[in-house]
Amino acid sequence: MSKTTAAITGINGWVPEYRLTNQELSTMVETNDEWITTRTGIKERRILKGEGLGSSDLGVQAVNGLLKKKNIKADEIDLIICATATPDLIFPSTACIIADKIGAVNAIGFDLMAACSGFLFSLATASKFIETGTYKKIVVVGADKMSSIIDYEDRQTCVIFGDGSGAVLLEPTQDGLGIQDSILKSDGSGRNYLGMKAGGSVKPPSHETVDAREHFIYQDGKTVFKFAVTNMADVSAEIMERNNLTGEDVAWLVPHQANKRIIDATARRMGVGTEKVMLNIQKYGNTTNGTIPLCLWEWEDKLKKGDNLILAAFGGGFTWGSIYLKWAY
Ligand code: UT7
Repeated sequence: MSKTTAAITGINGWVPEYRLTNQELSTMVETNDEWITTRTGIKERRILKGEGLGSSDLGVQAVNGLLKKKNIKADEIDLIICATATPDLIFPSTACIIADKIGAVNAIGFDLMAACSGFLFSLATASKFIETGTYKKIVVVGADKMSSIIDYEDRQTCVIFGDGSGAVLLEPTQDGLGIQDSILKSDGSGRNYLGMKAGGSVKPPSHETVDAREHFIYQDGKTVFKFAVTNMADVSAEIMERNNLTGEDVAWLVPHQANKRIIDATARRMGVGTEKVMLNIQKYGNTTNGTIPLCLWEWEDKLKKGDNLILAAFGGGFTWGSIYLKWAY
């Protein structure tokens, strides 16, 4: 029998209605549309409004839509992995909350934390459960309510991030399609440049940490940019080389949407033309774990069975990586 691989057999995305435009941001902090557009490529981002709503609510929308599209019931799911940097709670996991909310009574669930690379790391992890025959139906959901950890007085970060979610269904296949290869990397020395300073076990929440605004994202943008632009391009080139792929062979680059300049540099390094790059950063900004599935969802109609896709991401940790997959439908 031929090898079992994990194929994405369904995709869905979801974004909240509220659009926070560059124009509105320029009334909140010292910024302008021209700066944001030229430095990042972002025009607007979506914000989840309403009391008592968190990343699980974003995730539930994406997953419920996915189940409906695929015409499967929640109790058929074996495993839910939720990639999130903004869990509903430190514990229990957002995956367990999503499972409960959708009625996935037979699924086990856990969260995977790899910041902006979380969806990619989760997909690679999930693929191993399929390849080994452990599970047959896995949902990987990337969901982030980034607005919950953004300081809307900090112009360096508040212009970048938005809320959103996306989910894929992974199932086994023996026809050579699906996930072919993955390369994951991390370097913990990057923790000083991108993260949240308080709220964990080292510095639990206190009046002092709140006053010092340490429960928001901290990013040294310039340093992160330098690492991101090099590493995302390098790892994408590495996975192509390892699989004897040229730019011609790649149908689509599916990059994490952190900055259009990082995406352009990655595509150039891979020898992939801009017409083959999925780009929706202008509409949603950086939705952290939502970016890659939101791209796949928006481009679903254009994808053809057998298309070679390279997924690439870089994020806090630092973490970064690349996945090579053949689209399965
Ligand atoms: O997804 C996780 C991984 N994250 C990333 O990959 C993000 C990587 N970093 C970046 O994308 C970019 O570094 C940023 C978009 C965050 C910033 O762009 P930059 O070109 O690196 O700008 P900068 O931080 O070097 O700032 C340039 C200037 C500064 O002014 P001075 O010092 O030159 O006078 C900033 O104060 O732009 C100023 N600035 C702004 N001006 C208007 C910073 N933020 C803003 C703003 N509006 N929102």
